[in-house]
Amino acid sequence: MRLFAILLAATLAGVADAAAQPYPSHPITMVVPFAAGGPVDALARILSERMRQSLGQTVIVENVTGAAGTIGVGRVARAAADGYILSIGHWSTHVVNGAIYALQYDLLRDFDPVALLPSNPMIVVSKNAVPARNLGGLVAWIKANESKVSAGTAGAGSSTHIAGVYFQNLTGTHFQFVPYRGTGPALQDLVAGQIDLIVDQASNSLQQVRDGKIRPYAVTAKTRMPTAPDIPTAAEAGVPGLDISVWYGLWAPKGTPKEIITRLNQAAVEALADPVMRQRLADLGLEIPAREIQTPEALGAHQKAEIAKWWPIIKAAGIKGE
Ligand code: MLT
Repeated sequence: MRLFAILLAATLAGVADAAAQPYPSHPITMVVPFAAGGPVDALARILSERMRQSLGQTVIVENVTGAAGTIGVGRVARAAADGYILSIGHWSTHVVNGAIYALQYDLLRDFDPVALLPSNPMIVVSKNAVPARNLGGLVAWIKANESKVSAGTAGAGSSTHIAGVYFQNLTGTHFQFVPYRGTGPALQDLVAGQIDLIVDQASNSLQQVRDGKIRPYAVTAKTRMPTAPDIPTAAEAGVPGLDISVWYGLWAPKGTPKEIITRLNQAAVEALADPVMRQRLADLGLEIPAREIQTPEALGAHQKAEIAKWWPIIKAAGIKGE
């Protein structure tokens, strides 16, 4: 009995100690739900490096891949709400997946929003061996080779998959989707000529486009990208309506103390204000949201609005999970 009392006192003292420690007292993990080398991974590594300066603690990037990001996001939903684990994701992981997967977590109820992060449009890109020189030519080439054409995606429901289906619907084309654990490896296969195309996030493809290793056809935005002004918009290239913006966000498990969310938001906001960071993000084709919408509240409101907008569209399109 006496031993039990001593152990209990020691445990309680430990808990009190942990609670008394200033946050953050040890490294924070940022879970990337796709493969290393892809666009979520790239943003997470740039952001975490700068957030470390503000937080005074390392922010470790961990890739937990599979099922279009649902495995990694699920890991964070079930984790302790102590500010030491974060979910970085985007339009497909934190909006689209709720419409096509029977998720073991709720995208709104199981997370606390931390900060709205940059967004980027997508680019239709092909391997260089494809003979087309513009979007019209690409559509004609796909139609002539339908049974053979393949497009890389990061799995059913990923942004690359949804954008590919959208492209098919608008152009009346069909091709086969090849799922990867992220668009980092999919892009490597495109450069190597193993697959024919990707409707890819600009931040993933732009460098390979600049290096002449893949061919761009159109940007899925209303205006051209300042960082790649030679690539026409989809409407200019003959496919009006192909408008998709992949926006990013940072979330913590539901119930994370308010002061910790504020601290994390502050670190993310400082990162997005840093001129070196801003240049790195702009080079990748990422657009930084205005300061007043980098808040947890703005991310929560935007995510809700996007769920209301996209779930009916995705459900009506009959897109199924893996
Ligand atoms: C990735 O990081 O691999 C991508 O975000 C996946 C996708 O957008 O399809």
